[in-house]
Amino acid sequence: MRNKNISVSALPVWKSLDAHSSEVRQLHLRKLFADDIKRGERMVVEALGIYFDYSKHLITDETLRLLLQLAKESGLQDHINKMFRGDKINITENRAVLHVALRAPKEQSIVVDGENVVPLVHKVLENMAKFSNLVRGGVWKGYTGKPIKNIINIGIGGSDLGPVMAYEALRYYSQRNLNFRFVSNIDGTDFAEATYDLEPDETLFIISSKTFTTLETMTNAHTARDWVLKSLMNPAAVASHFVAVSTNADEVAKFGIDTANMFEFWDWVGGRYSMDSAIGLSTMIAIGPENFRSMLDGFHQMDEHFRTAPFERNLPVLMGLLGIWYNNFFDAQTVAVLPYEQYLKRFPAYLQQLTMESNGKHVSLDGTEMDIQTGPIYWGEPGTNGQHSFYQLIHQGTKLIPCDLIGFIHPLNPVGRHHDLLMANVFAQAEALAFGKTADEVRADGTAEWLVPHRTFEGNRPSSTILLDRLTPETLGKLVALYEHSVFTQGTIWNIDSFDQWGVELGKALAAGIIPELEDGANSRVTHDSSTGNLIKRYIRNKKLSSKP
Ligand code: F6P
Repeated sequence: MRNKNISVSALPVWKSLDAHSSEVRQLHLRKLFADDIKRGERMVVEALGIYFDYSKHLITDETLRLLLQLAKESGLQDHINKMFRGDKINITENRAVLHVALRAPKEQSIVVDGENVVPLVHKVLENMAKFSNLVRGGVWKGYTGKPIKNIINIGIGGSDLGPVMAYEALRYYSQRNLNFRFVSNIDGTDFAEATYDLEPDETLFIISSKTFTTLETMTNAHTARDWVLKSLMNPAAVASHFVAVSTNADEVAKFGIDTANMFEFWDWVGGRYSMDSAIGLSTMIAIGPENFRSMLDGFHQMDEHFRTAPFERNLPVLMGLLGIWYNNFFDAQTVAVLPYEQYLKRFPAYLQQLTMESNGKHVSLDGTEMDIQTGPIYWGEPGTNGQHSFYQLIHQGTKLIPCDLIGFIHPLNPVGRHHDLLMANVFAQAEALAFGKTADEVRADGTAEWLVPHRTFEGNRPSSTILLDRLTPETLGKLVALYEHSVFTQGTIWNIDSFDQWGVELGKALAAGIIPELEDGANSRVTHDSSTGNLIKRYIRNKKLSSKP
């Protein structure tokens, strides 16, 4: 195993990959497929009902051999074991990283600071289930005795993106007489629009915040309380209309929420890894405790696969390694995630926090400046919408953009021909990206010579096709865990801390300094640069002038 004090780029296997990438750049997928007629059957891994076709990547067997060696020499298995046994691998925050404990079965034992945390997890799940059933059954009443009809989750980042994504993804399974809304932005419009057509006495707020100090969430939470109390007039109403999800009981109590109505989680759950903790309370109310349990089972199956499968058949490991291949040896800047499933419309946004907050790091674990690229930019939209928007650049632009195409065999809403048409597009896009259309093929269509270059598709653009049976709570759990562990694989190889997020702190601190300037015209304690100072002055001056919409 490598000495972690030296950069991964100093490893002989890294240098071999670098040299090998120059050879692979000369290859074309057309030839790779022509030379190996079984490539499309061979370069596939099927596990846990996920069919992962990686044959349309710019790789050879030698590429895979070298990448797998890189994973081995980077101590990936050892690092996986450390995570699963609760070692404090989030070194800058001195914390264990145990989202895997959130989906561990009851009989498992995972010890953190001398305590088995699995029973704690199950206790909270039971409390969540009791509460969810009360709300779903109309038993939990608002202050005036009416049942709850509307559930609003207030949170941001991991305390919002997971709940929104999961609600949208699993909406098919949700209880349809309940409305779910999500407020995250400190922009008052978010709260105003979410509550515009709702009655306070039928509305339950879930204040979701790991720290219970996040400016956006606490501002929205106070606004929500004012909105409820303006109508219900009695502070006692807070108990019926507010519950909290947090690690910080003191702050929850200070806000005025009875800690009996608080659903706990722990500092060893990172915000972006928390959708299956109590942060998923809105998800559980929507889909019910049983469906939530099967989502956790899906997560757990992928955890076990990641922990135990040999690397060459290990889905997250392969996915992570392919990402490293393009990021570090082909200078690819981004990865496009393209779910051909309308219910997964928020999945790319969810993945952006998971991947970019985790692996957007410029120093290695020992604080040394990285000499290689770390996390790529993730982005995407559901297909087929994206095809009529940005796919042009993926097909014919000058940038290399590896794509994840995600599709399901069975639709949840079978409507006429729609699903076959949708899936035809998944297969067609992967085919077009890989093989393109040569100038000769374009000419053979009778295209005028001057138009030939415009209509030629170079091809050789890599993609994974990820096929699953049907979108269910269980498959969603597997899919999310697949990406979680792929991020882990990459972070381990780059030797960075994938579990802190110091990069978001400076902006928060500066905003805190500017707020009094804007609200009271107070002189800033800090001197601003001429641009910032001028912008602030202009805002203060002009906001006093009346402006009507
Ligand atoms: O500012 C980034 C961040 O800390 C995320 O990592 C986190 O998911 C989000 O803010 C929300 O934090 P909290 O749940 O503590 O309100």
